[in-house]
Amino acid sequence: MDLNWFRSLPKAELHLHLEGSLEPELAFELAERNGIRLPYKDIESLRQAYQFSDLQSFLDIYYQGAQALVTEQDFHDLTLAYLDRVAAQNVKHVEVFFDPQTHTDRGIEFGTVVDGIHAALSDAESTLGISSNLILCFLRHLPEQAAMETLEQAKPFRHKIAGVGLDSSEKGHPPLKFQRVFQQAAREGYLRVAHAGEEGPPSYIWEALQLLDVARIDHGVRCIEDPELVAHLAEKRIPLTVCPLSNVKLCVFPKLANHNLKKLMDRNLCITINSDDPAYFGGYLEENFVQTQKALQLSEHEIWSLVRNGFEASFWP
Ligand code: ADE
Ligand code: ZN
Repeated sequence: MDLNWFRSLPKAELHLHLEGSLEPELAFELAERNGIRLPYKDIESLRQAYQFSDLQSFLDIYYQGAQALVTEQDFHDLTLAYLDRVAAQNVKHVEVFFDPQTHTDRGIEFGTVVDGIHAALSDAESTLGISSNLILCFLRHLPEQAAMETLEQAKPFRHKIAGVGLDSSEKGHPPLKFQRVFQQAAREGYLRVAHAGEEGPPSYIWEALQLLDVARIDHGVRCIEDPELVAHLAEKRIPLTVCPLSNVKLCVFPKLANHNLKKLMDRNLCITINSDDPAYFGGYLEENFVQTQKALQLSEHEIWSLVRNGFEASFWP
């Protein structure tokens, strides 16, 4: 299985935070354009800071980097840079997250963020042959009321947003906290997903399914600790959007060779491979496929399953 073979496979990506695709070069370019000082002397020292001990240590730097994004053009350029990268990897469909609260809490208009992102996604259909869905993530370290206000702000842009998700610091912020806002999103016709079981326990995955009524679980790797949950996920064919390089960078697994992705596949789960925050975790979708295959000795048949699952688990009609 050489690189050209991986590249030749048409792929879908379902777990990608646009703010996590901000490469240090672009972060510095945008910061300069906006007259913002990043707390790093140059691109190299920013890249050097990408050593994480857990999810929170990453999020602290990720939210700092996002401060460079200010104008509609910035959000457009960020999105286009990601789409250009993955178009070259033969990615055909993407479902991407954005964190509006990270920006609106700094005084940036909701419309500035969503219009910039949406324009780039929309152009990419014809220019790059990539179809897409946009997913608004609520920050779970903030109160549910703030998520409710964000959902309200999204109303005029409803046609540009396919679904809602839940991200940020998982431990101590169970899905239960967001039950009402997800119910409201369901009434408004949004598709629903949630991060659960990345660092949090299997009970958070149950809550995401039973209280938030999500169609997919983002990460979900800790489901393996609960055999009843694994059986449920398999029976209902609820997809997990697994992000192998992310899990190693954030110390969910010590090495890629220790990742439980193959075990989860062997238990008949609908597993997909994704990149999460590629600018921070050392690889886009293709690198996730290539390195995971090598570390876990996945067969050609298993790679095909992962690729097929990506399209099956997507919201693509
Ligand atoms: N936001 C960006 N990446 C994330 C992750 N891996 N988990 C939770 N929130 C995130
Ligand atoms: Zn994520």
